[in-house]
Amino acid sequence: MIIAVDGPAASGKGTIARALAAHYRLPYLDTGLLYRAVGLNVVRGGGNPSDPDDALAGCQFDDLLLGDPKLRSEDAGATASIVSAHPAVRAALVERQRDFAARPGGAILDGRDIGTVIAPHADAKLFVRASPTVRAQRRHAEMAGMGQMVSVDTLLAEIRERDRRDSTRDTAPLVQAADADLLDTSLLSIETAVQRAIALVDARMAAR
Ligand code: DC
Repeated sequence: MIIAVDGPAASGKGTIARALAAHYRLPYLDTGLLYRAVGLNVVRGGGNPSDPDDALAGCQFDDLLLGDPKLRSEDAGATASIVSAHPAVRAALVERQRDFAARPGGAILDGRDIGTVIAPHADAKLFVRASPTVRAQRRHAEMAGMGQMVSVDTLLAEIRERDRRDSTRDTAPLVQAADADLLDTSLLSIETAVQRAIALVDARMAAR
């Protein structure tokens, strides 16, 4: 059983994917973390994330980097979005993600292109979205909880910029797969969003 969860930044896809992984007892891969690691590796090495050669060199990261709390920052997300637009970077990370998806017992992956490029034959695909304003407010509350005060307007501008970059790049842009179920979490609590996600996946499995 392969489940693909895609959607824009701060849509709730990570929370939903983790809950689905626990519910179905499947191993989970947050693919955004791979792009974040590439970005952080480039920056730490003094490289330029917009430069294709620097970005490709950044793909040679030590897996220990995947545990670095700095990967979770807004900056790391923005840098990940920049390096992820380079086709060579995407190509360098494809095999690792496909290998994970091909695990014998199944797997769940979240990202931007799981249902379209990494696992087009996934058994269930969710496209999770929420309005930019709601996403900025959620991010604001989350960051305030960690003692980081960034205005909702600043976060909204960052979210819009990241959406624009992720959706308009030539290679594997953020787009809902034709056979993905849409889950808009704008007006849903986390609990309800997770319940709906499970219902959608169950329905897909029953129809197979
Ligand atoms: O899911 P995230 O916010 O951690 O992802 C960070 C960036 O990485 C995102 O803005 C675009 C890129 N990304 C991608 O291009 N493809 C993926 N499958 C996952 C992330």
